[in-house]
Amino acid sequence: MDLYVLKNVSFKYNDNMVLSDINLNISRGEYLVIVGPNGAGKSTLLKLLDFLIPPSRGEIYFDGKKVEDISNLKKISPYRRRVGLVFQDPDVELFSPTVYEDLAFGPLHMGIDDDEIEKRIKSVSRMLRIDHLINKPPFYLSDGEKKKAAIASVLTMDPEVLMVDEPTANLDPRSRREIMSILENMWKNGKTIIITTHELSIINSMVERMVVINSGRIIREGDPKKILEDRDFLQSNDLE
Ligand SMILES: Nc1ncnc2c1ncn2[C@@H]1O[C@H](COP(=O)(O)OP(=O)(O)OP(=O)(O)O)[C@@H](O)[C@H]1O
Ligand SMILES: [Mg+2]
Repeated sequence: MDLYVLKNVSFKYNDNMVLSDINLNISRGEYLVIVGPNGAGKSTLLKLLDFLIPPSRGEIYFDGKKVEDISNLKKISPYRRRVGLVFQDPDVELFSPTVYEDLAFGPLHMGIDDDEIEKRIKSVSRMLRIDHLINKPPFYLSDGEKKKAAIASVLTMDPEVLMVDEPTANLDPRSRREIMSILENMWKNGKTIIITTHELSIINSMVERMVVINSGRIIREGDPKKILEDRDFLQSNDLE
């Protein structure tokens, strides 16, 4: 069954139409990549999928229910705790005195007990190889280290849907491979994975579907392999 159904979703910032008539279904357990040039609307789409901003027009259904009233915390919390978004800019995620506290923040607010939180932090920081950074203030970290810490701070919440905006931005080749393989493992363990990128080289054979947006519209959707072979299409959309 479809986990998300977006029907004619549009979004505007003031008078600036950023997304127009997005029709998109996302299945449970799918691995989806959203591709598009700078300013296409990728990050905005993820914020809609994370229920952080409401559509200006159109409807979003999650798990069969229409998502409304996102400013009503009581109503939206059950949805929000099932989804997790790692923002493009890691500084948004990192605001505590130490990385450890940032990693604890999400699960703490979900009411998870201390032992379990500690267990999660240990396992996630080992997986992302940031154990040595855990007691540092986030502003001591390099950009790549921050990206990993930001990913870690969402993983400790263990969301059903994991969205990562530009997962490999600022990462060195080894870290890039590691992050992609972590996402792959999460997907194999049943999570729904949604990422954005304009780095086409990171799109591996695991990624099941690609959605290309440009100027706020979905201009193509389908098998990543097929789309990646279409050089003319990629070039004409500033993707290659
Ligand atoms: N808070 C905001 N207020 C007004 N306009 C915004 C805001 N955030 C984004 N926009 C505009 O919305 C459009 C889409 O932005 P978005 O960040 O979704 O693009 P993107 O595809 O993620 O780009 P990038 O590849 O650079 O990350 C841009 O034209 C941007 O200027
Ligand atoms: Mg973006």
